[in-house]
Amino acid sequence: MHLTPDGVTTRKLTKQDALPYDLLLLADETIEIIDRYAKDGQTYVLEANSQIIAAYVLQVIDLQRIEIKNIAVDSNYQGQGIGKFMLRDATLKAKEQGYKTILIGTANGAIKQLYLYQKEGFEITSIKKNFFVNNYPAPIFENGILCKHMIMLEKQI
Ligand code: ACO
Ligand code: ACO
Repeated sequence: MHLTPDGVTTRKLTKQDALPYDLLLLADETIEIIDRYAKDGQTYVLEANSQIIAAYVLQVIDLQRIEIKNIAVDSNYQGQGIGKFMLRDATLKAKEQGYKTILIGTANGAIKQLYLYQKEGFEITSIKKNFFVNNYPAPIFENGILCKHMIMLEKQI
């Protein structure tokens, strides 16, 4: 186990562990969609006082590339640097496993996330047009903006 500066521990879930859906649902719309990547992905959780307070899920794309498919912090712990820590931790895990590129995607309306990811060195590389319109059952709004497109970002590691 790896201890973060603020006393939070990071642990990789095994296939037997239950997924922390309450958290993962903060970053994605339905359990069905989460299962598509989390069942075969690598899920890491952050714990404080034996409680899971944050999580991220990595999914391998190919031999060179891995993607952060879900990253979420419990609302009581947001804004304390945990999201930033997880982006760095995910990058480290990806590098240790030999991947050359780490990707992350977020909705066009997710201003705070776009700010955070770019500040952490991820660069916008493409836009999946109408991704949310085509893949999600109901309209999604963030910051009063209709989320239609997925903005893809990546970082060389
Ligand atoms: N508004 C604007 N900026 C903010 C806010 C806010 N409410 N809260 C934090 N920030 C800024 C911080 O100031 C910091 O910037 P700085 O380094 O310039 O000071 C930066 O954002 C990072 O802050 P953290 O504290 O590290 O972020 P946090 O721990 O809150 O994690 C996350 C960010 C993961 C987006 C979290 O807020 C969250 O779980 N949100 C809900 C789920 C979600 O949207 N997940 C991402 C979806 S995309 C995907 O999963 C691939
Ligand atoms: N941070 C975040 N949001 C803000 C800020 C701020 N500092 N100031 C205003 N806003 C929000 C407002 O709340 C409003 O949103 P809302 O309707 O949800 O309340 C929205 O932005 C628009 O506010 P306005 O008051 O209409 O914006 P403003 O008159 O300031 O004009 C502009 C915006 C043109 C970007 C102005 O700030 C500016 O001249 N900036 C410097 C030059 C610049 O960047 N121009 C654009 C470059 S791109 C181009 O020219 C094609």
